[in-house]
Amino acid sequence: MSEILKVQIKERPYSITIEAGLLSHAVEYISPLISGSAKIMLMSTKTVEKHYRQPLQSSLEEAGYKVQFILMPSGEEKKNLENVSALYDKLIGHGIDRSDLILVLGGGVAGDVAGFTAATIYRGIPFIQMPTTLLAQVDSSVGGKVGVNHPSGKNLIGSFYQPKTVLIDPSVLKTLDMRERISGFAEVLKYGFIKDAGFLEYCLKNSNDLLHLRNMDKISEMIRRSVEIKAEIVSMDEQEGGLRMLLNFGHTIGHAIEQALGYGVCRHGEAVLLGMFSALRISMLTFGLPEDTFAAHMDTMKKIPLKCGLSDLDNEKTVQAVYRDKKIRNGQLQMVLLRNIADPVIRDDVSHEHIAQTIEWLKKQFK
Ligand SMILES: NC(=O)c1ccc[n+]([C@@H]2O[C@H](COP(=O)([O-])OP(=O)(O)OC[C@H]3O[C@@H](n4cnc5c(N)ncnc54)[C@H](O)[C@@H]3O)[C@@H](O)[C@H]2O)c1
Ligand SMILES: [Zn+2]
Repeated sequence: MSEILKVQIKERPYSITIEAGLLSHAVEYISPLISGSAKIMLMSTKTVEKHYRQPLQSSLEEAGYKVQFILMPSGEEKKNLENVSALYDKLIGHGIDRSDLILVLGGGVAGDVAGFTAATIYRGIPFIQMPTTLLAQVDSSVGGKVGVNHPSGKNLIGSFYQPKTVLIDPSVLKTLDMRERISGFAEVLKYGFIKDAGFLEYCLKNSNDLLHLRNMDKISEMIRRSVEIKAEIVSMDEQEGGLRMLLNFGHTIGHAIEQALGYGVCRHGEAVLLGMFSALRISMLTFGLPEDTFAAHMDTMKKIPLKCGLSDLDNEKTVQAVYRDKKIRNGQLQMVLLRNIADPVIRDDVSHEHIAQTIEWLKKQFK
């Protein structure tokens, strides 16, 4: 069964299709969007191409398209301008023109890099994402943010560039390791926390089955609802004015943990999960989140088998990282908190003391 969602971006709405098994007949969704003579630049990374390139490439070639495969280096440390520049060389070497397509099959790193390349080469050529990690399927492929890291920080170079379409095949998640699945699942829970209490309860109650991919229809539905929530928020706030800030729930302390532990120690979503524990506690202590709601969510979230311990986390360094966050406006830390589940508020009056105390508390919970 396929689910098709529309992202209502002002200039050019586009659709996101979610369907288990889509990979082997993706051409049906791609061909209406490009010219018959377009060359397809299929970009992917080593692990992903090993599993999934062949069925995709064959179906495109059988339909008569000329496909050029381009191998991308993988890993966050390769998400840089040097890599983009190498891709420009390859694309120009293959004689692409403005009607050709960049089709990226991979996780969030590949999607961000290929998207930025597509946005900037010849001032923008058509681009389609086929995200293959849960995080990329529910988060990075939706919303049009593309970019790379700079030596002084993550995602500092980038653009907003919408794809022609996004094609999601949840069955590719079966080769994704559990830590990566949990990392994406944290973003799924985030959507529930900020927008949909019923969805959140469902995901938490069924976390074991969902993480083990026991039922593909349920996985597709989980992805569909996540994408729907993100697409709705992004459509209302395409250029990150205010509403999009809600998507940062769990990310203020999450990012700080990621940074203080050293990138790569914790997966992004693992850190976000820890950040959500922290945001829930601050919400409970100071902004009216009922204590029993807090306790019940602590219990169910703790059942998720996190592999990221905090015994080496330096409290002071983490607090400092919180205050280096991009979300500081007029010198005040902006934090997304909850008055209740699915009732978020953006506050700029969280005290330094509450941040420091909460990090200490978190460390005790996740030794
Ligand atoms: N653009 C946005 O709005 C946005 C939002 C959130 C995150 N991001 C970015 O996304 C990146 C993280 O993405 P990610 O978590 O997907 O990491 P990733 O792209 O590094 O992928 C994680 C690992 O999974 C492997 N992999 C991918 N698909 C697989 C599959 N189906 N089976 C087996 N292995 C597979 C990859 O080779 C890689 O080793 C970060 O750079 C982050 O900044 C961007
Ligand atoms: Zn995130």
